[in-house]
Amino acid sequence: MLRNKLDALSAQALSEISQASTSEALELVRISYLGKKGSLSEVLKGLGEVPAAERPAIGALANESKRKIESALENQKSLLEEKELSQKLSKEKIDPTLPARSLHRGSLHPVTQVTRKLLQVFGRLGFEVTTGPEVETEFLNFEAVNIPKDHPARDMQDTFFMGPGVVLRTHTSAVQMRVLRSQSWPVRILCPGAVYRCDQDATHLPMFHQVEGLWVDQGVKMSDLKGTLEFFAKEVFGPGTKIRLRPSYFPFVEPGAEVDVSCFQCANGTSSGSGKKTGSCRICKDTGWLEILGAGMVHPRLFELAGKNYELPNSLGKKVTGFAFGMGVERIAMLLHQIPDLRLMTAGDTRFLGQF
Ligand code: PHE
Repeated sequence: MLRNKLDALSAQALSEISQASTSEALELVRISYLGKKGSLSEVLKGLGEVPAAERPAIGALANESKRKIESALENQKSLLEEKELSQKLSKEKIDPTLPARSLHRGSLHPVTQVTRKLLQVFGRLGFEVTTGPEVETEFLNFEAVNIPKDHPARDMQDTFFMGPGVVLRTHTSAVQMRVLRSQSWPVRILCPGAVYRCDQDATHLPMFHQVEGLWVDQGVKMSDLKGTLEFFAKEVFGPGTKIRLRPSYFPFVEPGAEVDVSCFQCANGTSSGSGKKTGSCRICKDTGWLEILGAGMVHPRLFELAGKNYELPNSLGKKVTGFAFGMGVERIAMLLHQIPDLRLMTAGDTRFLGQF
């Protein structure tokens, strides 16, 4: 009785399996026979009523049916999968002529780009790159460049003090005395690097970058400074650029000057270079000039502090003198690219950085 039922059931299962035409349909067949409530399981529940003597033979038959059904399922499954895969492959097409998706490429930060440009321009005048530490002694940052103890720049609000006598350098001029002490003249160095001040708003950052220049040799004159800066201005801002020096005070130079370049947006290329008004220049605010850097002739006090006899005439009969200048890299990058807010420089936004 049960034997007949089992035979009929497995014959039925095998035929349904061979007719299943998709993986999903096959899965339904599997569940309907082998699932917990499947027909085979139901039939096996009747095993208890079979006389004990016949039970082992019927049990073996049941297992045999189950194995047959399972292997038929397995075969059909791989047949169907193969069929489905080849159908999918014949439908989907790959077009190798489509243009490739462009890769996202990184770019150099505008501060890095401008710094490299400056090193390259001054490099052509023989300036060699020197660096100094960002954590500097209060002495080299201030006294050594003739900034007296009571100078307001030393206030806690302006300078980050790391400990007694140790500061984060507030300007790259801190490198001047290191160089004057460690090198003999002629000295012609350019020092790029980060500097720090307690300051933060749309036009100030607590950390920014400067490039310092120092040229010390026999008979270096103010006109050498001017020629050097003129060359730099034309290279960086365009060949029509002019410069002007306005007398100014920095403790480490005498005389000192603030240096402007003619506005490359509205006055550059015009022969005047003197503030030709065009109505509404966003860069120079119609003044025609952009303040770019501080400069001057090295203060004699620095030579004294360097402990070298720079003031004695040498064999050519000329005194050793020098000039120095310092400029803010972010400011130059902002002018060149018309960047409206200094804080963009440190925001790390790739939409901004990707434009350079
Ligand atoms: N150190 C000055 C500053 O930070 C710039 C400067 C450098 C001026 C060298 C004159 C000579 O503003």
